[in-house]
Amino acid sequence: MNGKRIAVLCSGGDSPGMNCAIRAVVRIGIGSGFEVYGIQKGYAGLLEGNIRELQVSSVGNILQHGGTILQTSRCPEFMTEEGRKEAANLLKRKKIDALIVIGGDGSFNGAMKLHEEHQISVVGIPGTIDNDIDGTDYTIGFDTAVQNAVDAVDKIRDTANSHARTFIVEVMGRRSPAIALKVGIGTGAENVILPTSSIDYEKIVNDIDRGIKRGKTSSIIIAAEGEVEGVAHTIQKNLKDKFNLQAHVCILGHIQRGGNPTPTDRYIASQMGQMAIKALLADEKATATVFVNGKVALAPLKNCLRKKNEFDVSDLELLTTLSI
Ligand code: ADP
Ligand code: F6P
Repeated sequence: MNGKRIAVLCSGGDSPGMNCAIRAVVRIGIGSGFEVYGIQKGYAGLLEGNIRELQVSSVGNILQHGGTILQTSRCPEFMTEEGRKEAANLLKRKKIDALIVIGGDGSFNGAMKLHEEHQISVVGIPGTIDNDIDGTDYTIGFDTAVQNAVDAVDKIRDTANSHARTFIVEVMGRRSPAIALKVGIGTGAENVILPTSSIDYEKIVNDIDRGIKRGKTSSIIIAAEGEVEGVAHTIQKNLKDKFNLQAHVCILGHIQRGGNPTPTDRYIASQMGQMAIKALLADEKATATVFVNGKVALAPLKNCLRKKNEFDVSDLELLTTLSI
């Protein structure tokens, strides 16, 4: 790449480990001879010109904290050609010719368009708790979110056992089954309801009955939230109305997205930050850092624009087998 100025922003939902990626981008970027700029509040901050140069010391003492020091946003204006033109002009005025975007598939789509329409070099770093970006096996924040949810469900299990109750615990992930499946296996859930399939109420009720008969003192159903929060209440109502089964609801919500990143998230995020700088040094124009076959690598950004919602059926089988 020609210029020496690069910028980094976070976009979409925050995820634990974003700070580790920012720290690596800044420190390795400066060490590689770049001036590194931080854009506050995602694409919205870019449009407001909310940009400042970052120093090695600007990213001290941040890697252990969840959230993002750069803050993040969702920005409808960036969905328009006009908005992206304004953003590109702003970057050009500041002589910034490469942008590192830490976010999900939506943010990557925005970055791709910025590149195609205005020739700004872009690098995507996958950061979302949902682990749902095509082309990468991992997105920063997933491990921490799963850890947070497993901690919470373990606590719910204590009280559920004491009262012989059934709980429906709703986890995040939009249309991605990833969090629900991993939390389900990790907590020994009796059932998991994924956003990609219809709900088999009869099976749920039969499983719970069978468990009670063999001496189980509680049942946990993990429900993936789907497009809107609150699906657990619908499931609760149907179980009550159709099967006279009383269940309690706990929606974990944003508690899953906060807190200190796990060592895995810190490690992968640091490697991805480093890889993003390597991409710019290699003059890549539209690329993404990905995690494939257990390693951080680079892939064309165009391979990472789709939302991934497939899951390994053997994981579901494992959960079912173990919860007898
Ligand atoms: P995520 O990046 O986590 O998937 P969103 O889908 O909310 O989160 O996207 C974050 C932001 O990225 C949006 O608010 C918008 O500014 C930008 N964006 C998303 N999709 C597109 C798109 N198709 N074209 C341009 N910009 C987009
Ligand atoms: O995409 C990450 C995510 O946390 C999803 O799991 C969840 O559905 C959504 O963001 C919540 O978004 P918001 O920050 O707008 O509440």
